[in-house]
Amino acid sequence: MKIIVTGASGQLGCDLTKVLESEHNLFLFDIDLDVTDAKKVLKTAKEISPDVVIHSAAYTDVDGCESNQDIAYNVNAIGAQNVAIACNEINAAMVYVSTDFIFDGAKKEPYIEFDNPNPLSVYGCSKLAGEYFVSHLLNKYYICRTAWLYGKNGKNFVKTILKLADEKDELKVVNDQFGSPTYSFDLAQKIGELVKENAYGIYHTTNSGSCSWFEFARKILEFGGKDNVKISPISSDELDRPAKRPFYSVLRNYCLELKKFSPMRSYEEALRDYFGK
Ligand SMILES: NC(=O)c1ccc[n+]([C@@H]2O[C@H](COP(=O)([O-])OP(=O)(O)OC[C@H]3O[C@@H](n4cnc5c(N)ncnc54)[C@H](OP(=O)(O)O)[C@@H]3O)[C@@H](O)[C@H]2O)c1
Repeated sequence: MKIIVTGASGQLGCDLTKVLESEHNLFLFDIDLDVTDAKKVLKTAKEISPDVVIHSAAYTDVDGCESNQDIAYNVNAIGAQNVAIACNEINAAMVYVSTDFIFDGAKKEPYIEFDNPNPLSVYGCSKLAGEYFVSHLLNKYYICRTAWLYGKNGKNFVKTILKLADEKDELKVVNDQFGSPTYSFDLAQKIGELVKENAYGIYHTTNSGSCSWFEFARKILEFGGKDNVKISPISSDELDRPAKRPFYSVLRNYCLELKKFSPMRSYEEALRDYFGK
């Protein structure tokens, strides 16, 4: 297939390239294709005429979105709308990558695709607006909601913890927010599987299992060979960040289960693999 990838030098974009390049004809774009530029998005899509557009570009700075609301809605919502309009025009399928932060975290068990979103932050609202544009404009779409993404390329929690472990004697990490850490390589593989099957729809696509940021950090230090560093749990109140985050945003990959796709491996197994263990 001919596939356009937006945000191709982001962490997911890099893994999409690794996973898909041997099988498909990829057209990789980053900020050179600014998704807020509707005309350029449409022109590029018409010139390439891809079968699928994987839209992984986003403004992903969750706290930054609170102070830069215009950028958040422009990139995450209008950007997705521009891509969806272009896909509609050329009859291409679209993959939109969304987030666990569309939920408020009030549920006490894992969220399924049929639960009602209620985002708490500008980032969550802007990504949900993107979902609505995609699902209203297109029939051939995949919305893949993921969470706590980390990969070999780009900034992420795994790299931050390893860096802090080298710089500090003690780490303090939040222990009252729970989610499903997901290796971007695993997400890229699952997206590859879905587009091959034309299995359109909304999917939760996270590594299985869940933990708090504190528990995740402990595993990172263990697998990263830095478990001599002292680490202490703190509450979200103590950290006091600009964006409100859900206390519980564990996703269950229910639609993958219902449609008989293979399950995604546990986050511990994926993290071991990330460290080559
Ligand atoms: N990271 C997470 O924990 C997480 C969790 C759930 C869902 N997601 C979603 O998963 C997807 C991939 O995330 P990621 O972690 O791979 O993100 P990332 O590493 O931040 O990559 C996003 C890419 O999009 C590019 N970009 C930003 N604004 C753009 C614009 N206006 N036009 C074109 N490209 C633009 C960025 O370029 P610059 O670097 O130059 O800005 C970057 O290369 C996103 O849709 C995100 O919302 C992420």
